[in-house]
Order: sequence, then C-alpha cells, then structure tokens
Amino acid sequence: VSAATPAPLHVAIIMDGNGRWAHRRGLARSAGHRAGAGAVERTVEAAPSQGIGTLTLYAFSADNWKRPADEVSTLMGLLRRYLRRERRRCVENGVRLSVIGRRDRLDAEIVRQIERAEAETASGSRLTVRIAIDYSAREAIAAAAHSASGLPALSTADFSALLNRAIHSSPPAPDVDLLIRTSGEKRLSDFLLWECAYAELVFTDTLWPDFGADELARAIAEFQKRHRRFGMVSATA
Ligand code: FPP
Repeated sequence: VSAATPAPLHVAIIMDGNGRWAHRRGLARSAGHRAGAGAVERTVEAAPSQGIGTLTLYAFSADNWKRPADEVSTLMGLLRRYLRRERRRCVENGVRLSVIGRRDRLDAEIVRQIERAEAETASGSRLTVRIAIDYSAREAIAAAAHSASGLPALSTADFSALLNRAIHSSPPAPDVDLLIRTSGEKRLSDFLLWECAYAELVFTDTLWPDFGADELARAIAEFQKRHRRFGMVSATA
C-alpha cells in the first residue's frame, strides 16, 4: 500500500444488485431494497473511521421512475422512512444529511422529510451523507449551465459551485475521489459525471445488500494502491 495516496475524502457509491440479491433468495425485489437500506446504515456507520468526509449514495435515479409503480413506491417509502428514522441517530453521530437531485417530482411528504432531516442535522461535522434522489448528472449539468448563462466566463471551480447549487447540495461537496459500484456492473449510469472527472473507480461483485464495513475498507485499500496523477507525470516514474 502506497503511503503517498491518502484516504479518499469523498466516496460515492452506486448501490446495485438489490434485485439479484432478492431473486437468489426467492424473495420479492422489495426485500432486496429493504436489505439494501440495512447496508446503507452499516456503510454510513463505518465511513468516519475510514477517514471519509463526504459519502454520496445513488438511491434513486431520474430514470428509476420507469420502474413498475409498486417498486417506485417501495423505494420512496424506504427513503422517507430512512430520513425520518435516522435523523436522530445522525445528529448523535455528527452526521449531516443532504439530499441531491430534483425535488419538483417528489411527493410533498418526502420533501417535508428531506427538509426536516437537512435542518436538524445541519450542524453535523463528522461526515456528510448525500443521498441522490431523482438525480441525473446530465440534467444537473444542464441546469447549472442554464444558471450560468449570461455570466462571464467561469472557472471549473465556479461551475462546480453552480452545480452543487443546482442539485441542492448543502454543503457543497468536493470532487469525488473514489467511486464504488457493486454487483459487477461497470457503468456510471448518469451519476456525478462532472464530479468524477478524476475519481478512481472500484468495481466489486458483491451485491449491495451484502456490502458493509469490510467491503468499504477493501475498496479504500484498493484506492490507496492507485497512483493518482491528475494529468501530471508520476513522481515515481
Ligand atoms: C439497485 O438495485 C438499487 C436501487 C435502484 C435502489 C437503491 C436503494 C436502496 C439501497 C435502498 C434505500 C436507500 C437508502 C438511502 C435508505 P437493483 O434493483 O437495480 O438491483 P438489480 O440490478 O439486481 O435488479
């Protein structure tokens, strides 16, 4: 393990494989999503001790509206419950919750839970957990570009600030250092395309409901073996 690569400050996860996890057990897909919510709790709990400052989780993409209505409502129910149930534990653990994505297509009750969770956890400084709901990176980039029209030329840092605002990220997040996708799929699926410009990508065959502290530590160990160059020449080359 190279001592030169520090722990990733911002880790993003595409939580995939809930359906397959359930199918292998002869269970309904909803059981996989429920088990996935358990993996979220384990991962959030493990993150601060791994040196992570921001954890962004892809819970519901803009394209997930195309799933069957009962699955959409199961997922929305789980998210609503998570925001309601976990916010106290987040406050106790110094975790700040933020939901990124669009809000205009969510029902009023989940928007209320989002606003309460964000307000009540706003002073958390140990870890920021961003949950992406009705999120599309390309839509976010288009919205930020629209908000920039009429402004003078922007630096990439200025554009990042507009992008964070377009997705309601409070606080604004730094670029992603490590992107993890579970379940063996190797795609970005419209997640954090701008923010992952220099992210290291780690893919694991583990299905999301089986993910937890050990898997997170393994992904970080893999990250720390990489030599990040950001377009420069490696110091050891
Ligand atoms: C992908 O599995 C997973 C999702 C579309 C939803 C992610 C949601 C959760 C983990 C549950 C709740 C989240 C929080 C933050 C409490 P899939 O259904 O695409 O699996 P498959 O590819 O095996 O069918």
